[in-house]
Amino acid sequence: MSWYRNCVFFVKGLREFTRSGYESASRSFVPEDLEVDVTGRSFMITGANSGIGKAAAKEIAKRGGALHLVCRNEDRAEEAKGEIVAETGNQNIFVHILDMSNPKGIWEFAEKFKNEHKLNVLINNAGCMVNQRELTEDGLEKNFATNTLGTYILTTALLPLLEKGNDSRIIVVSSGGMLVQKLNTSDLQSGNITFDGTMVYAQNKRQQVVLTEQWAKAHQTIHFAAMHPGWADTPAVRSSMPDFYEKMKTKLRTEVQGADTVIWLAVSPAAIKQASGLFFQDRQPVPTHLPLASTHSSPEDEEKLLKALEELAQHFKPT
Ligand SMILES: NC(=O)c1ccc[n+]([C@@H]2O[C@H](COP(=O)([O-])OP(=O)(O)OC[C@H]3O[C@@H](n4cnc5c(N)ncnc54)[C@H](OP(=O)(O)O)[C@@H]3O)[C@@H](O)[C@H]2O)c1
Repeated sequence: MSWYRNCVFFVKGLREFTRSGYESASRSFVPEDLEVDVTGRSFMITGANSGIGKAAAKEIAKRGGALHLVCRNEDRAEEAKGEIVAETGNQNIFVHILDMSNPKGIWEFAEKFKNEHKLNVLINNAGCMVNQRELTEDGLEKNFATNTLGTYILTTALLPLLEKGNDSRIIVVSSGGMLVQKLNTSDLQSGNITFDGTMVYAQNKRQQVVLTEQWAKAHQTIHFAAMHPGWADTPAVRSSMPDFYEKMKTKLRTEVQGADTVIWLAVSPAAIKQASGLFFQDRQPVPTHLPLASTHSSPEDEEKLLKALEELAQHFKPT
């Protein structure tokens, strides 16, 4: 089955996820969708110092939004801020230092942020593909801690703030890679498998899609969306998937092309006309399963994921 899924996924990827896939899809884009002024609205982007996150930040800054860049490295974050301010003239750019694999730190950050700022749009973009099994200081597997638990805690902690605002949106930068994985809640720390970073990452991205669907059902005043950027030429792809990068480098999307749907979901009035909780690619909701791939999960398994994340989140919540 995994051979079948991988083949179907790769063929689909060559057609749709590449730069030519973007160029073809973009012929149906409505340019006016992005002709908006978001002055007065506040956006948070995790992992905003690089790649898709930085490209999205710049486009939102050009449209007047206040931006909170949440990054783990101060120098890289300040450099990105300087670039965004210089290129857009927008002075409302704020840096926050946070490691998304540190659950206690996320709770503390969100608590402080809630008391000091307003927020209209949260973009969960930070992500990693660590190819060896590595544990955080808390004993959590690094990919899971960053991609799944970090996203879960930040979103959960900021929900009350977003619920206070109007036209609130939460975007999760997932990946089409999740199409090759069925939700698996039995080994969240990947301790019982032969470790394969690509598959662990894909599992985390599947978890993000399931979470987005569940959040949308539970929080109806907020518009939730997960998305796939396509295959874009970013530092993460170059460093975590060097073989893939070598083979595909002439076919990859630019960072701005990868960020296009994030920007559309974050600022356009068109995006919120779509139902909440869907998975988007090139400004369109798309299926979350490949045909005949047997990746559908049961409501019980989805419930199990939520329960396990909530237990972990509470375990790390400062008292
Ligand atoms: N590029 C693609 O083809 C592609 C395809 C599908 C999905 N995605 C998703 O797109 C998102 C952005 O990735 P990208 O391709 O733009 O790569 P990127 O340029 O390397 O950006 C990743 C960002 O996440 C940050 N990050 C990683 N771990 C973190 C942590 N523990 N705490 C805080 N920040 C952390 C990185 O910070 P540092 O700079 O400090 O490392 C960086 O800012 C990811 O979620 C990725 O899974 C990308």
